[in-house]
Amino acid sequence: RRSLNSHSSSVPFPEKLAFAFDIDGVLKQGHHNVLPQAKRVLQLLSGSDGRLSKPIPFLLITNGGGVPDEERRAALSSELGVQLGPDQLVQSHTPLRDYVKKYQEKPVLVIGGAGESCRRVAESYGLKHAYIPQDIIKWRPAIWDRTQLTKGEESFAKTVDFSQIPLSAVFVMHDTHDWGRDIMLILDTLSAKDGILGTRRENRDDQGEVELVLSNADVEWRSDWPISRLGQGAFRLSLEAVYKATTGLQLPYKQFGKPFKATYDFSELSLRRYLSSVGRNPDVPLNVYMVGDNPASDIAGANAHGWSSILVRTGVFRDPNGEVPEHEPTVIADDVEKGVEWAIRRET
Ligand code: G3P
Ligand code: MG
Repeated sequence: RRSLNSHSSSVPFPEKLAFAFDIDGVLKQGHHNVLPQAKRVLQLLSGSDGRLSKPIPFLLITNGGGVPDEERRAALSSELGVQLGPDQLVQSHTPLRDYVKKYQEKPVLVIGGAGESCRRVAESYGLKHAYIPQDIIKWRPAIWDRTQLTKGEESFAKTVDFSQIPLSAVFVMHDTHDWGRDIMLILDTLSAKDGILGTRRENRDDQGEVELVLSNADVEWRSDWPISRLGQGAFRLSLEAVYKATTGLQLPYKQFGKPFKATYDFSELSLRRYLSSVGRNPDVPLNVYMVGDNPASDIAGANAHGWSSILVRTGVFRDPNGEVPEHEPTVIADDVEKGVEWAIRRET
């Protein structure tokens, strides 16, 4: 393996270069499968393999989530073999950390993920009264009688009288594990009078009192199954269709995650906080390269944010017939390693 920029070399260092990596379809394929190229790339950039004279800054931006940021950061650090700092990971719901402040003292409904993991995410962002679907089913099983709580769910579900709880917002933090139940409960919450379940507002063509916030717009994503899988964006499409059919109205909602501006602004700030944490000037001009597998998400967002973009063929985009993706990247590369090496050469 040749030295890209060794201590002894007089080759200039790419001072402005930084990377933003997508996770699923770029660094990983499925929950347990880290691509070996990804490990090599992160070792290269962090300087631990000795091929660079100093580290090149990077962060990970994923539309995945459902696990508190600190836990996900620890798990990814061990899977990827590189210690990630607190500002080097942005999950779909991480930018909500600031957004949810206005709801800290208010009761909210949190959707997504396994067990109570999304309640823990919400609590880690300071939401003091975060309820989950299982709490509601425990209160009145008749609200959704198509599935029953498991023994485990019975034990963690809270005992709450929702006839006394004015829900003020719904946060979809991750893919739901029960689409039917959660479409029903979101519809109930958005249509309720003063956020009280079991009631209906008379005038449902107003914008409602309960805000709906979603964290990931991906209709498809790539796991270790050979065909792309449906993501949270597909759940939103279903919810929109049901909302329209039952109310005649457009679903009102606020969207976070890639490709949206709020997520890229938050990520850029995180990257600059990271620079500061390693003793570098956070205000230097940066040439950021986003490495992603999903044109509609990673590439669209990077292009709109003024970053360069590298589209890899290890995820959603496979390019069997050499087709041009709907959002054109700066370059298409076979995998993350080829893309990163191309960017380093381009910037050096
Ligand atoms: O749920 C995961 C997903 O939609 C995409 O994750 O890392 O490819 O942005 P990622
Ligand atoms: Mg991806």
